[in-house]
This record gives sequence, C-alpha cells and structure tokens, in this order.
Amino acid sequence: FERGLLTGRHVLINAGPTREAIDPVRYLSNHSSGKMGFALAEAAVEAGARVTLVTGPVNLPTPPRVDRVDVVSAADMLAACDAALPADLFIASAAVADYRPASCAPGKLKKDTGSDAGMTLALVRNPDILATLASHNQRPGFCVGFAAETDEVLDYASDKLTRKNLDLIIANDVSQPGIGFNADDNAVTLIDRSLTQQPLPRASKHKLARQIIAVIAARLNTPA
Ligand code: C5P
Repeated sequence: FERGLLTGRHVLINAGPTREAIDPVRYLSNHSSGKMGFALAEAAVEAGARVTLVTGPVNLPTPPRVDRVDVVSAADMLAACDAALPADLFIASAAVADYRPASCAPGKLKKDTGSDAGMTLALVRNPDILATLASHNQRPGFCVGFAAETDEVLDYASDKLTRKNLDLIIANDVSQPGIGFNADDNAVTLIDRSLTQQPLPRASKHKLARQIIAVIAARLNTPA
C-alpha cells in the first residue's frame, strides 16, 4: 500500500446508519456498523489525504488524524456533507434511511395513538445524499457509492452508477453469510463508468479499504 497516493487531497466519507425520530424516545434506523466507512477513512489518511468523516451513531473509535463529524438524521448528514465541500473525492458508505416519519411527535406517543388492530406511521422520502452531492455545483471530482444488494447485484449496481451520476460503485452481496452489513469481512465488485468490473475477493474490511483507496487514487491521478 503506497503512502502519499492522496497527498493534498480532501476526502469526504460518510458512514454508519441514520436515525429518523418518531418521537422524543423512538426512531427508525438500521444495522449498519460503520466499519467499512471507518476503514476507508483510515486508509485514506494513510494514503496522505485530509479526511472528513461524517458519521451516524456508531460504536467505533475515530481513526487517527480523521476529522469526525457526528450526525443523527439523514437531513443532518446531508447538511454536514454539504458543509464539508469542496472535496476531491466523496465516498458514500452510509446506510441512509430512505424514509423518515412525516413529523416527529413533540411528546412521547401513547399506546392509544393506535388501537388493538395496530397503528400506521406516515413516512416521507429522505433526500439521496450521494445523488445530491454528485449533481452539486461543487460536485466532488470523483464520487463513489456502495450498492448492498441481495439479488442481481451487478445489474442493480450498474443501474445506480448511471442514475446517481457516479464515477465508481462498490457492489456487495449482502445475502452471503459472514460478509457485508455489520461483519468484519466483505467481498465486493468495483464497477466503473465503462461498466468494467473488478472483483475484490473476501478479505477484512481493513484490507479491502486499502485496496479500494489504491484503485480510486490511481483513477484520481490519471483521469480517463
Ligand atoms: O439506492 P441505494 O440506497 O441502494 O444506494 C446506495 C448508495 O446511495 C450508498 O452509497 C448510500 O450511501 C447512498 N444513499 C444516499 N442517500 C440515501 C440513500 C442512499 O446517499 N437517501
């Protein structure tokens, strides 16, 4: 792993889940651990970059020399990412909630808000942080997304690359046991704009992060 590959570059990474408040004591969220994003932040620092890591609530120590910004909701995460621009590279590894409650109740919801038959929670769509930054007037020069899929992984990933205007998408099959969400290992396929696929076989997220940063740095340093 070459140090200095990203010297002088500002790298923005988001990580972890978001939490969408239902009322003062409840929220909607997911099982993202933030491990892949934190490993990428660490690898980017080792490659010489200045790194801003915008993270949802996770239980991970901040890697040395990383500027960490803690956020809770998708709206907060978008605002923090926006505030961190300009950046040369944006890696969106966060598991952003696609929807949030239409409103956050001012007081704790009581059981009789619903009935024995159940209750309905109205949700509204959250902004897509990656798509927003990738079409921003201060668009980072290189935008990378993750696609965690359970089926037709590469098809869905290529589709996302085009739809969100990305330079690279990192696809992983989250239906395979022992890798992906919350695991220490991962196995991914990198897909670029010419739809060339580069599989990176199962390894620790730490090792994969270094491989991914090396591939991205090579692209940044020799634009197509
Ligand atoms: O469409 P999908 O959620 O599978 O796309 C995943 C990619 O998009 C990830 O890189 C994720 O960080 C990003 N994303 C986002 N904002 C959302 C949803 C997903 O930035 N609201």
